[in-house]
Amino acid sequence: MLDFWDYLDRLIAESRIVIDRPRGSAHPHYPELIYPLDYGYLDQTHAIDGAGVDVWLGSQSERTLEAVALTVDLHKRDVEVKLLLGCNAAEKQMVLDFLNGSSMRAEIVYRDAGLAWLKSRRSVRRFSSQEVSRHLIEQILAAATWAPSAHNRQPWRFAVIAMAQHKTRLAQALGEAFQRDLALDGLPEHEIVAQVERSRQRIQQAPVVILLCLDRSAGDVYPDEKRQQAEYLMGVQSAALAGGYLLLAAHAVGLAGVWMCAPLFAPATAQQALDLPLTWEPQALILLGYPAQVPPARERRPIEEIARFWY
Ligand SMILES: Cc1cc2nc3c(=O)[nH]c(=O)nc-3n(C[C@H](O)[C@H](O)[C@H](O)COP(=O)(O)O)c2cc1C
Repeated sequence: MLDFWDYLDRLIAESRIVIDRPRGSAHPHYPELIYPLDYGYLDQTHAIDGAGVDVWLGSQSERTLEAVALTVDLHKRDVEVKLLLGCNAAEKQMVLDFLNGSSMRAEIVYRDAGLAWLKSRRSVRRFSSQEVSRHLIEQILAAATWAPSAHNRQPWRFAVIAMAQHKTRLAQALGEAFQRDLALDGLPEHEIVAQVERSRQRIQQAPVVILLCLDRSAGDVYPDEKRQQAEYLMGVQSAALAGGYLLLAAHAVGLAGVWMCAPLFAPATAQQALDLPLTWEPQALILLGYPAQVPPARERRPIEEIARFWY
């Protein structure tokens, strides 16, 4: 059965969006209130105030509806529903702050119990040339550190590169290692050159490159091999969780990224290229930037296939 959100999707799909209050413009009655995003309405629809259904339009290229804002206005004595289209987490917060700034109070209601934004993360491999501020990267790293870790050792380490010459050095070194591996596979020379070049370009063209490492000195030390191996695995799992959190945090603030496994095949090469401490074992390369092209969602296996319940 189609639900409330499906009906709203249909209303949006069948309507023209009119933006009559663009981002940066002032409220007609409260000039101190500046619209933080494009604001308008769905043409040929009707809300409680007789005008069209209100719409806030965010920066995401896919104009999906993940949330609505509910408002109560004691001055106008009305209650409204405002649609938040294509808004990332930061933009939803901006709308909330704006709405809570006048005679109104607002609350955001999320589709899919708030999980829709999580499901809308994609591995993005093409980025715009827009720079990413160090401040934003630091916020994302701080969010990543809220991942769980074995014994709370937080064994993750991040080598963050935005400077072109360092990206080139890393891309060059990883490219040479990749070339050697592909030669061992017996691939034809032109195929090797093309694959290595593609990988090198991807690293060089990403606005920010993060080498996610595991600090081997952070874990417990055991006398036996079995527990030592388990401890190592716990470290790898903890670092990977931080990488997953990092990708989700990036997505939440409107950035996008992709996980690249290249350094796993040449950890010493990556470590040396950046002159990292010897205990920092590279686990993955995470490319980040503002998305230029968001690929379509890749299919997920159904729950029945991947889970067994004793419920
Ligand atoms: C451990 C791991 C290694 C990955 N390695 C690469 C990689 O080397 N290159 C790449 O383009 N994507 C890589 N990915 C991204 C996956 O291809 C991607 O997550 C998957 O296709 C699902 O797409 P989605 O993330 O957009 O949902 C990797 C992901 C993980 C978790």
